[in-house]
Amino acid sequence: MRFSSLARTTMASPFTVHRLHMRGRHRLVNCLNSVQRTFRRSAGTERGAVQTEGTLGEDSGEKDGPKSFYELMADRQEQAEKSVLISCQSRTSEKKFLNFLSKHGDIKKHFFYESYGVYAVVEFACRDNVVSLLESAAIPSVSHESMVPFKSRLLSLRNHSSGESPSLPCQPQTTVPINELIQRLSREESVDEQISSLTEAYQLREENSRLRFLVCSLLKDIAAAYFPECTIKPFGSSVNGFGKLGCDLDMFLDLDTISGKNLKTPKSGLSLEYQMKRTNSERHVTQSILSVIGECVDHFGPGCVGVQKILNARCPLVRFAHQPSGFQCDLTANNRVAMKSTELLYLYGELDPRVRSLVFTIRCWARTHGITSSIPGAWISNFSLTVMVLFFLQKRSPPIIPTLDCLRDLAGPADESVIEGNDCTFVTDFSKILLQSNTDTLEQLLTDFFEFYATFPFSRMSLNIRKGKEQNKPEVAPLHIQNPFETSLNVSKNVNSSQLDRFVALCQESAWLLQQSETRTPTGVGGKHTTKPWGLATLLLPSQVAGVKGRKKRKPHHASERIKSLLESLKSKNDGKKNSDS
Ligand code: GTP
Ligand code: MG
Repeated sequence: MRFSSLARTTMASPFTVHRLHMRGRHRLVNCLNSVQRTFRRSAGTERGAVQTEGTLGEDSGEKDGPKSFYELMADRQEQAEKSVLISCQSRTSEKKFLNFLSKHGDIKKHFFYESYGVYAVVEFACRDNVVSLLESAAIPSVSHESMVPFKSRLLSLRNHSSGESPSLPCQPQTTVPINELIQRLSREESVDEQISSLTEAYQLREENSRLRFLVCSLLKDIAAAYFPECTIKPFGSSVNGFGKLGCDLDMFLDLDTISGKNLKTPKSGLSLEYQMKRTNSERHVTQSILSVIGECVDHFGPGCVGVQKILNARCPLVRFAHQPSGFQCDLTANNRVAMKSTELLYLYGELDPRVRSLVFTIRCWARTHGITSSIPGAWISNFSLTVMVLFFLQKRSPPIIPTLDCLRDLAGPADESVIEGNDCTFVTDFSKILLQSNTDTLEQLLTDFFEFYATFPFSRMSLNIRKGKEQNKPEVAPLHIQNPFETSLNVSKNVNSSQLDRFVALCQESAWLLQQSETRTPTGVGGKHTTKPWGLATLLLPSQVAGVKGRKKRKPHHASERIKSLLESLKSKNDGKKNSDS
């Protein structure tokens, strides 16, 4: 079945539904419908008509499949170029604000959010509107400080008239706290619904995604002082479909249009070429460029603070915080393989809604138990963890997603890509991808994921998503995951054996918890103020087997004891709230 037909079949076809287990078949279809709708909305991958509320037998309304990665990037970059970021006072009238701005042109989209103050993202109909707006802006006059006279699309709104308005409606840009998430999940009626609820709570929203592209575009304006034709593109979880609200913003300074790598020189006649400074290595060029851009960002970049140049890393980068957006940013250059990995992950996430749901769930579970961390170290990275989920989905019978070799075989001439001698070719046209009819529920997949890795022969075998098979480890390392494109490398080289042991112990515990009758089904207790954690929610409670690094392993408590203690804490919180309310 082709992808576009799969989207319809998993979501709606009576034929597929007949093949589902009776128990929960309606739930699965509804759940997949809701997951798919949520993703398309947040990632902005939907083409044309928004889907209607889905029911069995209803057409999904999606005829053309998702946007390709390039289309998505181009659309988002275009929006960002026509947008400005404005710091506002919270008590500004939204109507007055929009009237004031619309003097410069039609406003296509706007939203407010909070990050060290209230900000507005405003997208105009065309770039000329932005030029007109910038021409009308004044240079701030301050008596005690001096200004770096660098003009950008980051502005401040000054309100010179008196009178207060209601607070501006702000879009949330952060995830719900874990205890709130546990309670929310406990109120769901099936594990599948819990998984979609978690995904919905954690994934990047449309607005957050726009803001990420806008920050890249603002940064491009700084880099353009040296390289007018450059672009800065987000990669990693900001765009691969697996980003969580609050994840870092990985950026790639793309100079390929300037370096002219793709231009052919004529074989006869006259031609001109630029004289350029030569250095002894590509790495040195990258380091020099990042060093200079890093200085610019540090000295001239409005809102950019804590700039660190980490130029001797395997992949040189400039790290800083962008205060107006609240993003932790990593700017790299010459990092095309990571861009390809991002595109591959995006493609896998678009093939079947269960891919993203499972990745979100496993990423959240891993983070809760300290399996992953935002600090670099011997932990499993989110990237490695995602590859582990993909590998598991390739190993299903029938497989849910194809192998990378299969995607390479489907590639056309336009998809060909060789980066630094590595074959990074794979198909980009979704309609060429054939998927097999697998009807596993998310609950089955989650349980089987934990069982799969609880018993995986990590000591001997390496994971290979190119082949969709484990293979003998080519080198000694506790965890070996073959890099999909630089195949001689191990993406989890940093992981030590104690971190791997913790992962395996947690998989064992989670598989066990999902099989216990007392935790696998919802049985609400405690009235309307408390809901007993069950299913996925229990997996997010503190673990007894691998909670804190270096902590002595304690004898596993019975699950009910852990749940009892959480209930007690929830109860006392609610009692406290009731008392303070009364
Ligand atoms: P977050 O933890 O949410 O930031 O996930 P992420 O996917 O953005 O991970 P990270 O910021 O560490 O890396 C950004 C991107 O770089 C990843 O999505 C990959 O595309 C790529 N990447 C990271 N680590 C590796 C690696 O070890 N090998 C390869 N080939 N690519 C990597
Ligand atoms: Mg990242």
